Amino acid sequence: MKLAAVILAAGKGTRMKSKHPKVLHKLCGQSMLSWVIDAVAAAGVEQTVVVVGHGAEQVAREVEGRAQVALQAEQLGTAHALLQAGPHLKDSQGQVLVLCGDTPLIEADTLSLLVQNHRSSGAVATVLTTEMEDPAGYGRVIRGDRGGVCRIVEHKDASPEERKIREINTGIYCFEISGLFAALGQVAPVNSQGEYYLTDVIEMYVREGKKVNAMLSKNSREFIGINDRVQLAEVEQIMRRRVLRNLMESGVTVMDPASTFVDHGVVVGRDTVIHPFTFLEGRTVIGEDCVIGPGSRLSNATVGNGVTIQYSIVLDSLIGDECSIGPYSYLRPETRLEKGVKVGDFVEIKKSQIGKGSKVPHLSYVGDAILGEGINIGAGTITCNYDGHKKWPTRIGDGAFIGSNTNLVAPVEIGAGAVTGAGSTITRDVPAGALAVERADQKIVPDWSHRKKKK
Ligand code: UD1
Ligand code: CA
Repeated sequence: MKLAAVILAAGKGTRMKSKHPKVLHKLCGQSMLSWVIDAVAAAGVEQTVVVVGHGAEQVAREVEGRAQVALQAEQLGTAHALLQAGPHLKDSQGQVLVLCGDTPLIEADTLSLLVQNHRSSGAVATVLTTEMEDPAGYGRVIRGDRGGVCRIVEHKDASPEERKIREINTGIYCFEISGLFAALGQVAPVNSQGEYYLTDVIEMYVREGKKVNAMLSKNSREFIGINDRVQLAEVEQIMRRRVLRNLMESGVTVMDPASTFVDHGVVVGRDTVIHPFTFLEGRTVIGEDCVIGPGSRLSNATVGNGVTIQYSIVLDSLIGDECSIGPYSYLRPETRLEKGVKVGDFVEIKKSQIGKGSKVPHLSYVGDAILGEGINIGAGTITCNYDGHKKWPTRIGDGAFIGSNTNLVAPVEIGAGAVTGAGSTITRDVPAGALAVERADQKIVPDWSHRKKKK
């Protein structure tokens, strides 16, 4: 039997007070909507339709290749939204899961359970419900004398008595496709908000004597709907713990989950230790036996095994095995460090390659440079790569020794094994094995301080 899903994501999300569609706000680096799509896909759904409206183009781009799109040009309510998916589904047989794009904590196992429950009960509709400690804002589940669901009443339309009910509608349902779109067409906007409520289909089915079920789920935190930024932060925290738990279960040490921020999809190898105040973002991949942090941010970084990074930032860069970075260094995009490179304290590296075992230990700027193996760069050395118009390259051969505080005025090439004297400004190429010194002779004025005092 076919299993489809419709995700309602056309609403404006007024309470977010945002320029962007609500469902595109991110949690652990991934949009709310993508979290829902992932859960649906993992539950074995064969066809997914996302109903878009507010910010339709942006939302459609987000789901491209993963779901079909149905447009709800005017946001007239959840029943009206689901109706727009009709053309994609109404001739199908089987079941459709209906979810909201603003409930991203939903897990695949729960959806599978809902489908199982629905199929075995023979109901035409099954509502997923839960008991919320604070049910304010959610639709309440009204059950009859025999415990069956009668209807769902929205918070805004509920009487004070009804508002005391803690069992809420999660906004997630499993419906028989057959008959659903006809029923949706009959919903009328008779409520305080003047909207077409999807929840009215439940009452309609019950009135017609059709079998409607409710599946009560214990884990209420999974169904927190995000309507404002306070809920966004609350859900982010839960999601963050979930991402970290997966890492820990796969063999990564996270010293303090409360101060560690890892995006969805980041890969970390076994026995790597993540220290507090660390951010791992985007498509970052880290190998085994690394020590990352404290106080580090890695974004789209690929890091080998046995690497140490502390109090540093690494963006869009490749770090080979056994490198050591920091404290307080900044590796900018397109940097590539080969095995065993040391980038010490207060070093900035931009768009440069550094060969095996080379060292840039202190206070340097290396930009647009290609460095060979076994090089030592003295403290305070900088590449002068920019002439005000254009960026120029610097090349340094294997085994070169760059004296402290050298200015390498690019374009310039230092040959293999060459040495530059401390404080030199190097403007011309240095042949392999040569020494280049650019320095005025030192002057000595004898007894200078004594004579100065006398004056
Ligand atoms: C809805 C339910 C409520 C449930 C709650 C769970 C209804 C009437 N109410 O309320 O019973 O407890 O979710 O979180 O269904 N949407 C559209 N088009 C529209 C209106 C909404 O696509 O015209 C989408 C929104 O983008 C959102 C979802 O439907 O993803 C839910 O809409 P929202 O306005 O947040 O409904 P709630 O008031 O939270
Ligand atoms: Ca909502």
